[in-house]
Amino acid sequence: MTENHPQQTWDKIYGRNEQICVWPWSDLVSMIMRHAKPETQDFRMLELGCGAGANIPFFLSLGVEYYAIESSGVIVSRLHKKFPELEDKIFVGDFTKKLPSGNYDLIVDRGSLTNNKTEAIENCLQLCHDQLKPNGKFVGMDWYSTLCSSYSQGQIEDDWTRINFPRGPFVDAFRVHFSDKEHLLELFTKFEVRHLELRTTKSEFNDDHPVMASWNLVATKK
Ligand SMILES: C[S@@+](CC[C@H](N)C(=O)[O-])C[C@H]1O[C@@H](n2cnc3c(N)ncnc32)[C@H](O)[C@@H]1O
Repeated sequence: MTENHPQQTWDKIYGRNEQICVWPWSDLVSMIMRHAKPETQDFRMLELGCGAGANIPFFLSLGVEYYAIESSGVIVSRLHKKFPELEDKIFVGDFTKKLPSGNYDLIVDRGSLTNNKTEAIENCLQLCHDQLKPNGKFVGMDWYSTLCSSYSQGQIEDDWTRINFPRGPFVDAFRVHFSDKEHLLELFTKFEVRHLELRTTKSEFNDDHPVMASWNLVATKK
């Protein structure tokens, strides 16, 4: 296991039956329908870090050919039982090292790449670029922003990545990568960023971590 690999953390989390999200993320549904709706037959897509499979029924309902790569063997074996038709399409692996080859129309990440450090994210985006069709789309959801209160906490791993949060929403996280607009655009230099939005919420009852903020984006392979 490499030090970048979050498998142990996520195996423990899913083994304790935590973070078992099974309802599709509503922002992701809106983003796909607005900016990346499958329009062709034989539409191939890859989800990075599918977790407990929250988004799978939504994508299957669109009739796409769905593939996923996920670090946790614990959750993947549960997904293989739940979706037997995807047994040879959901892989255990580190998406920052290698992707199932696919000539994809769409690659989607909802809250997974943000668990990795900057260099690993750069590697993954290069792999995504290699595996997308010309004009293929990358949809990234819930990439944490440097506006999050937690950005100033935790130990510095690299300029944009923090580990060992003492408290707050990321206390159980292996690591969290945060971005500002310039950093995001730099990460996606090989893509054309077509849509970028920042979602910010401020809690009136959490003095320690009042602000949660994250980016959603749609980028096209140049
Ligand atoms: C917060 S969960 C999100 C799950 C899912 N995308 C969703 O929207 O419900 C993050 C997932 O990303 C996976 N993950 C994080 N880094 C990974 C990596 N380098 N390779 C493969 N999977 C990874 C974790 O195992 C975890 O299941």
